[in-house]
Amino acid sequence: MAKKLFLKTLGCAMNVRDSEHMIAELNRVEQYDLTQDESEADLIIINTCSVREKPVNKLFSEIGQFVKHKKKGAKIGVCGCTASHLGKEILKRAPEVSFVLGARNVSKITQAINSEKFVDININYDESEYAFGEFRQNPYKAYINISIGCDKKCAFCIVPHTRGEEISIPHDIILNEAAKAAKNGAKELFLLGQNVNNYGKRLSGGKKGTLNFSQLLSQISKINEVERIRFTSPHPLHMDDEFLEVFASNPKICKSMHMPLQSGSTNILKSMKRGYSKEWFLKRAEKLRQMSPDAAISTDIIVGFPGESEKDFEDTIEVIERVGFEQIFSFKYSARPFTTAAQMTNTIDDETASLRLQRLQSRHASMLDEMSQRYLDKIFEVYFEELRDNGMIAGRTSQNFAVCATGSEELLGKIKNVKITHPQRLILYGQVV
Ligand code: 5AD
Ligand code: SF4
Repeated sequence: MAKKLFLKTLGCAMNVRDSEHMIAELNRVEQYDLTQDESEADLIIINTCSVREKPVNKLFSEIGQFVKHKKKGAKIGVCGCTASHLGKEILKRAPEVSFVLGARNVSKITQAINSEKFVDININYDESEYAFGEFRQNPYKAYINISIGCDKKCAFCIVPHTRGEEISIPHDIILNEAAKAAKNGAKELFLLGQNVNNYGKRLSGGKKGTLNFSQLLSQISKINEVERIRFTSPHPLHMDDEFLEVFASNPKICKSMHMPLQSGSTNILKSMKRGYSKEWFLKRAEKLRQMSPDAAISTDIIVGFPGESEKDFEDTIEVIERVGFEQIFSFKYSARPFTTAAQMTNTIDDETASLRLQRLQSRHASMLDEMSQRYLDKIFEVYFEELRDNGMIAGRTSQNFAVCATGSEELLGKIKNVKITHPQRLILYGQVV
């Protein structure tokens, strides 16, 4: 009988892809099949995130739950970013854990399960050209890594310490993977990296790539079966005119741009080491709106970064109002080990940070209420990918707006025009036309 694998994935899209790679390796080499029931699993893996402190704290109670419910003799492994940063401490705090595998060592998963108390969290390990097996959780949308690691030194961010230096994957590997995924039915490709629009800066072994990100996008868009291309995360600093031009003019590139602002205050941006000012960001966003008026812009914001004054916070609100982001992921600052911000002493108290987060979120919610009404009676192309209850089906527009319409299975995997009849803040309801 095949062995069973239960895998829990936390965090970002890169982790989702790392999990797919682990599933593929474990199936190819060890004949593991996935199960959704932890109590029948022979192997339980938690693929962790460490970008903020809360999920890290939760890890140990989660391990405790798995220990309670697992089958006798089943192994538990901890992978991903928290594995990278805590390493063998995990084995000390949770002796039931059999192995700890860092975010940059995914290809060693079969070695990890076959060794006693295996720990490998090397952040210099280079698996950028490793030929992983094939596995995709979503038949409609294929995640494709284009680079690993991150060379930026944002003061708040632990990622360069868990995923190591930035290495781009050679473009021929990416183009092959893209063509294969599209031929297998994934009309949409999602290109992944910590800093995607810095693509090509350094390949494995140190040499420079021959294509930059804009050129890579153009090449991928030439694959016939590819209908939509998305990517995450780009850095605002690398949003030059060439990139915005390709983004705006290529019809296969989804009109959804993530522009992580982090803070609207030039002072805070400086102390975060983001490399741009409030004015510079506003100009780039304005240029993007001019070149691509239909595009939606999403962003990430951190409130309560050390030293953030009321005036700094108001600058953030001002940028939000001026750009009119269609989506905001907002977080309270969380001090992380290995980061320069963790040494800063001018910290903001939790109550102030919570209040700011609330103010930001409620301001944005009312902006969204207003914005969503603009979509009434508009027609969007929707790629349907999920069946819902009550005869409804859900999908995404090019702008990444979630749309729900009446429809059944035969619409899955199809792109259809939908007229919006009931726009709501987070979901646009409509009818296929
Ligand atoms: N505290 C809070 N949020 C953080 N992020 C990254 N590091 C931290 C931190 N220490 C947020 C940033 C980033 C997103 C993925 O997570 O906004 O863009
Ligand atoms: Fe962190 Fe900055 Fe790299 Fe994003 S670009 S992962 S915020 S260091």
